Amino acid sequence: MNNIDQIRQQVRTAYGSAVGKPRGSLTTPALILDLEVARRNIQFMASRFRTMPAKLRPHIKVQKCAELARLQVEAGAIGVCTATVWEAIVMSRSGIQDVLIANEVVGREKIAALAGAAREGHLTVAVDDAGNAADLSDAARAAGSRLDVLIEVDVGMGRGGVRSAEQALGLARSLEKLPGLRLRGVQGYEGHCMLEPDRAERIRKARAAMDQLGTAVQALKKAGLNCEVVSGGGTGTYDITGANPLVTEVQAGSYVFMDNFHGNLVPGFSPALTVLGTVAIRQGNTIVLDCGRKSIGIDFVLPTLVEYPFYQARAFAEEHALFDVDERCRLTVGGTAELIPGYAPTTVNLYDAYHVVENGLVTDIWPIIPRGPGHGGLA
Ligand SMILES: Cc1ncc(COP(=O)(O)O)c(C=O)c1O
Repeated sequence: MNNIDQIRQQVRTAYGSAVGKPRGSLTTPALILDLEVARRNIQFMASRFRTMPAKLRPHIKVQKCAELARLQVEAGAIGVCTATVWEAIVMSRSGIQDVLIANEVVGREKIAALAGAAREGHLTVAVDDAGNAADLSDAARAAGSRLDVLIEVDVGMGRGGVRSAEQALGLARSLEKLPGLRLRGVQGYEGHCMLEPDRAERIRKARAAMDQLGTAVQALKKAGLNCEVVSGGGTGTYDITGANPLVTEVQAGSYVFMDNFHGNLVPGFSPALTVLGTVAIRQGNTIVLDCGRKSIGIDFVLPTLVEYPFYQARAFAEEHALFDVDERCRLTVGGTAELIPGYAPTTVNLYDAYHVVENGLVTDIWPIIPRGPGHGGLA
């Protein structure tokens, strides 16, 4: 049994007693995945991609769950992308055949793990630095494997990526001399566009970002270098970037759950991920649930109560979620309520497992691997 199977089994054993229970009766805080809603989100996205030139490569840093990734691939996704090498190893060993680490992998141990995993599965990694590329090449040679690479180009976000088409070309030329690496194309993630509330402005910004990526594509192609993959996009821009003829694949991930952050910006999807909390305190018009910041992601936008979407949260302390309510609120001490996370990826990362719910009952436990920061016991 490998490490991943062991973790999977431990988690299933630890949470298995919840199977068969109604969604409102779990030990709280509990992470709930409404499978029917997630399936609808996956099908809706798959149907949108059937009419666009680009393919879908969902970003699984959002959900860290092989069971969900398999549903996405069955619905037509060409593979997945991940944020970390550990997520990539889990996906690859869980049977996902085409995995892109949409980030730079740096550090001897991580690079060795990546090169080793590339012996068993098809892994692609983003690079933006010649020294890092040389390290990847050395590790691939030592492991007897081959790594595919995409050159990351900064398209306005100012995070990873070479800063110009000339730099992309220079890096591509140095890759040619590195055994064990194969250049497949470019990646440009327009993360700075995702928060843009004005749809027309988001379209303008996302197109400008892809035009910037296009200059790097042209430079590589003009020099006779391979650029068959052009990867970018997220949930906020999937239909803009996916419709762009330059782009071959879109890295949207959050659509599977639709947290409050994305739900306000992207129509057509519904919230599939909730946190169940218990009302621990009710004093006057203040209710306090047992699911504070250690239980739910509050980045960008605050969580809301499913049943009472009109109440604004007042604060999220470590273990306390505070809402100011009024006479319409029927919640009393000991009652439970579900919350839609502000941001799903930072919520999921706090949990061992999803309580998979169908028709109101828990039907399965799906492990979150690797949970937390880093390797989660996989290194
Ligand atoms: C490189 C990269 N690609 C794609 C995404 C898209 O994810 P989402 O669909 O959650 O917006 C992200 C999100 O952080 C990312 O970092």
